[in-house]
Amino acid sequence: MSDFHALVPAAGFGARMGHESPKQYLPLAGRPMIFHALATLCACEQISTVFVVLSPEDTQFQLYDVSRFGSKLQPLYCGGATRAESVLSGLLAAELEPDDWVLVHDAARPCLTLDYLHKLIDELRDDAVGGLLAVPVADTLKRADAAGRVLRTESREQLWQAQTPQMFRAGLLARALQQDKEVTDDASAIEALGYQPKLVACEPTNFKVTYPQDRLLAELLLNQKNK
Ligand code: CTP
Ligand code: MG
Repeated sequence: MSDFHALVPAAGFGARMGHESPKQYLPLAGRPMIFHALATLCACEQISTVFVVLSPEDTQFQLYDVSRFGSKLQPLYCGGATRAESVLSGLLAAELEPDDWVLVHDAARPCLTLDYLHKLIDELRDDAVGGLLAVPVADTLKRADAAGRVLRTESREQLWQAQTPQMFRAGLLARALQQDKEVTDDASAIEALGYQPKLVACEPTNFKVTYPQDRLLAELLLNQKNK
């Protein structure tokens, strides 16, 4: 039977956050941002290992006490120049079986819940390809010109916003990422091989903390969850 592993790319800096330290360590609801996702992934009984892919220059992770996560948590100091490179490098360092499932989850998505993690695993464990959490687009979509004026309204029918975790077989995902190291998510690399990942409906609350204003919203949600 194939195992389930999580892999958390956390080797970015967070340029759009505009802070002098990497965004994954910014405080959020009393803990560094990255701790929230690690805690949820480590609490999932189906997942046997949680690999966290750090920059080789990372000096912050080791400053925190991660003993409460136990041996399930495995830091790998092998992150690369892009998210895709970090994921690929982590996958290779983790030495997983090709048929093992790997759930790739952004360190910058602290509001993932155990319920949606279970939903993703339950819906995909017998799937031939794998898939991802995602949300159907709710707002009306405008295409802009270079001056910021509306060119036209785009249909939002059958459009989804991709989230993470994204769950694929380790062998297939490594092969896919070797072909394209610029993709901004794992599913895109799988799609480029001609596969159709399955979309598993989630909620907007599993958003990625990207801009300074996102921190407040994430903090409100985490404080609510921890009540
Ligand atoms: N990531 C990574 N290695 C990189 C770039 C990104 O592991 N070279 C990780 C980030 O740490 C983050 C996840 O990929 O957990 C999602 O990326 P994103 O939100 O874009 O984070 P950053 O790339 O750090 O932010 P920005 O794009 O604003 O610089
Ligand atoms: Mg980025």
